Amino acid sequence: MIEKIFQEKDFIPAEMPENLPAQWNDKVSAYSNIAIIKYWGKKGMQIPMNASLSFWLPQSLTQTGVQIHLLDNPTKEVYFEFKFEGKNNPAFNEKIAVFFKRIEKYAPYLKYYKWFFESTNNFPHSAGIASSASGFAALAKLLINFEKMIFPSTNDKFLTAKASFLARLGSGSASRSVVGRVAVWGKHPLIPYSNDFYAIDYPLEIHPEFNRMVDLILLLEKEKKAVSSSQGHRLIENHPFKIQRIDQAQEHLTELISALRSGDWELFGKITESEALSLHAMMMTSSPPYLLINPDTVKWIKIVQQVRKESKIPIFFTLDAGANIHVIYPLKQEKKLRTFIPELFELEAVRNLI
Ligand code: DP6
Repeated sequence: MIEKIFQEKDFIPAEMPENLPAQWNDKVSAYSNIAIIKYWGKKGMQIPMNASLSFWLPQSLTQTGVQIHLLDNPTKEVYFEFKFEGKNNPAFNEKIAVFFKRIEKYAPYLKYYKWFFESTNNFPHSAGIASSASGFAALAKLLINFEKMIFPSTNDKFLTAKASFLARLGSGSASRSVVGRVAVWGKHPLIPYSNDFYAIDYPLEIHPEFNRMVDLILLLEKEKKAVSSSQGHRLIENHPFKIQRIDQAQEHLTELISALRSGDWELFGKITESEALSLHAMMMTSSPPYLLINPDTVKWIKIVQQVRKESKIPIFFTLDAGANIHVIYPLKQEKKLRTFIPELFELEAVRNLI
């Protein structure tokens, strides 16, 4: 067991092996994730302003396959083709080109090959289900599988950390999609080995109360969101509440540690909802201000709160950077919930068992 935090320089391979395979192919899948403590605001090269914590979403995933062909000489820029749902997508190509540029130092083998990717999601992208998270996590996992083959003696813990490190350079939240069920990314004083460079499996105790939960994502809006997360992060840089928000997130994570340990659903829910509303409040109070929620989002927030009050079922909501709402409750309460509020289960939704 490696008990250390890897440093940036650890992720730069010493040298390329002499006999690179002429061809290789592989296919991986990566889950999306839902942040309970939100990453909102970054500095430098994808360094988060606060620590975030998320749960995986096993039923919201990206599958990506790759075929590679060795070149006679390494190229200047990484040569790749990327098909999403069978088609070229210029916006994705641009993001992936930036990603490859950022990681070429850590993945020098990229330039020795032609890379052909084929990717699909089983959910609508750009709709508030973190598609960039599972998308970049899948790419990073493929690269790490390749590394494992060319550097066979590399330790698995290191490779997982490196996959997360690379994924982060594609999209911050993607760093959390290569580890296990509960991921932490960003340094927090009470979480050993937490750091800003890659995500780790949450190492502290989680009460069995939180073992089997449902995250029902209500697809209230499927269009592309008006302001992307990347633009949103930029607007935090000069935000009047920036410092307060960073402090709040760190304190929320401290409280969440104790809620997770003690099985306190009420505290868990209070923090979860507060984080979601704070995230959107930051959007509404940035310059220029913007609003991603819609009347249906507000309607379902109110319904969730009302149902909780009347049924005494621990049911809570959270939001990503979009209008869709994630309704979270213990699996064991689902039957009761279905009788209490059948309309909730008639909406177009993606149900994740987390
Ligand atoms: C609201 O990870 O999409 O979903 O690093 O610019 O790609 P980039 O941002 P991204 O931001 C996600 C923000 C969030 C909260 C979260 O997932 O923690």
